[in-house]
Amino acid sequence: MRKNLIAGNWKMNNTSADLDSYMTEFVNVLSDSFKKIDESTDILISVPYLILDKANKIASAYGIKVAAQNVNEHLSGAYTGEVSAPMLNDFGIEYSLVGHSERRQYFNETNQSVAAKTVVCLNHGITPIVCIGESLEERESGKTDAVLVEQIQAVMSVVEDVKNIIVAYEPVWAIGTGLTATNEQAELAHKVIRDELKKKYGEDSDKVQILYGGSAKPANIGGLLEQDNIDGGLVGGASLKAADFAEMVRISAKL
Ligand code: PGA
Repeated sequence: MRKNLIAGNWKMNNTSADLDSYMTEFVNVLSDSFKKIDESTDILISVPYLILDKANKIASAYGIKVAAQNVNEHLSGAYTGEVSAPMLNDFGIEYSLVGHSERRQYFNETNQSVAAKTVVCLNHGITPIVCIGESLEERESGKTDAVLVEQIQAVMSVVEDVKNIIVAYEPVWAIGTGLTATNEQAELAHKVIRDELKKKYGEDSDKVQILYGGSAKPANIGGLLEQDNIDGGLVGGASLKAADFAEMVRISAKL
């Protein structure tokens, strides 16, 4: 019923030339499988602003989706260094990460600003990939469920139609650390999120793709995807190697 989504988050990596060689390799590895892949799996890459337009032009030929990594909650104005939703519209960008833990950690994003960014995306036809997740300290003190509920509720308070958002569960302690949540830990967290969504959106919550992120790689993505409530991955480090990312797509599509 739900398609998987294998999404790469390049973070602040790769130039325009890197994009060219990456796409050539990625497309070669998957060659003529794109149609078959599309039956079960969406593919997305989230790239730095300066190569968004180029990535979108190259990727669309293969049905690969492209996302910004952030969007400002204001539509225009004196916000030096920021990019707005209308600017993404200008280039036909239809997805954006929102509230990635690195944005929360280094750029002071809060549940409130994440909610505001979600609204701006939805008002401009951009699908937000809303990232939530607990820190190690929160997990160790038994607060994981409460943190997830608080974070998802902040988003739910501004979303009418939940079918328009994607959620990524990314335990902060697993991001870029090589530590991955076990299949069971991840599934439990995804279930907490889906159950919370269900309280407001009922059956529509079953249509929401909830991705796992945090040191996902070819060796562990298969087990994660087997879980009932895990519908894909938001992949940082392993998405930077075209062959590894393609392998994760193949695993998802059972090629
Ligand atoms: P990672 O990053 O796969 O390198 O842990 C995931 C993310 O930050 O989205």
